[in-house]
Amino acid sequence: MSHGRGGVIREREAASPDYGVVAKALHWLIVILLIVQYTVAWTMPEIHRGTQPETLINLHMSLGITVLVAALIRLIWRLIRPVPLINDNVPLWRQWAARGSHGLMYLILFALPLLGWVAASGRDWAIDFWGANLPRLIAAAPQLAGAIGDYHTLLSYILLGIIGLHLLAALYHHFWLQDRVLLRMLPGRSELGR
Ligand code: HEM
Ligand code: HEM
Repeated sequence: MSHGRGGVIREREAASPDYGVVAKALHWLIVILLIVQYTVAWTMPEIHRGTQPETLINLHMSLGITVLVAALIRLIWRLIRPVPLINDNVPLWRQWAARGSHGLMYLILFALPLLGWVAASGRDWAIDFWGANLPRLIAAAPQLAGAIGDYHTLLSYILLGIIGLHLLAALYHHFWLQDRVLLRMLPGRSELGR
């Protein structure tokens, strides 16, 4: 057992190691992609029956499918290299809140682009992925595409809500509880790191 402040800090750090560079890079890459993606989504033309994809809509599809790929890599990475939640004095309900919200975000990061992909397929669009054409997931079905598009939009707002709570939780940990939860996800080594 170590003594003194440094020792205590090192023990705490061993109990709650930083996320690795790959996990951090993927986390923040997805944050950046989503910021651009929502901006594009709110700027692109309204989509009605008969709308044909143009530059911004193609960009929306490419970015969204990139998010899907990044989320897949991230999930696989997480399975290979799991990072435990911090375990110093965190009540069980809060651990479950973290697990639940993280799980939900992963789920939506898959479901949201897939719903968009299905909606775009139903509209009989060419599915653009940075200039390449990906296969359509369903045959043309304009009415169904409209309904699925609505669910896609709704889910995108649900994701925004969860991200808002997630952001508040991170700030609460950092400024109120003053633990390492935010630090261990920030780029580079935290100030407590070696
Ligand atoms: C993380 C990924 C994604 C996010 C955050 C996202 C977000 C959004 C948002 C906010 C809207 C509503 C835009 C408005 O206000 O009118 C929208 C619409 C739409 N998105 Fe996405 N999207 C994503 C991925 C995709 C993908 C991968 C595709 C297709 C390959 C796609 C296809 C569509 C379509 C077709 C609409 C129009 C829906 C309709 O009104 O019928 N999206 N998206
Ligand atoms: C808005 C800025 C954001 C901040 C400050 C932030 C902060 C954090 C922090 C501190 C953690 C570590 C939590 C812990 O170890 O207990 C974390 C994990 C996580 N974040 Fe974020 N985050 C943000 C945005 C996002 C976004 C946009 C998403 C995806 C939609 C996301 C998805 C996740 C997931 C799934 C985890 C769990 C990581 C894992 O264990 O695999 N975060 N985030």
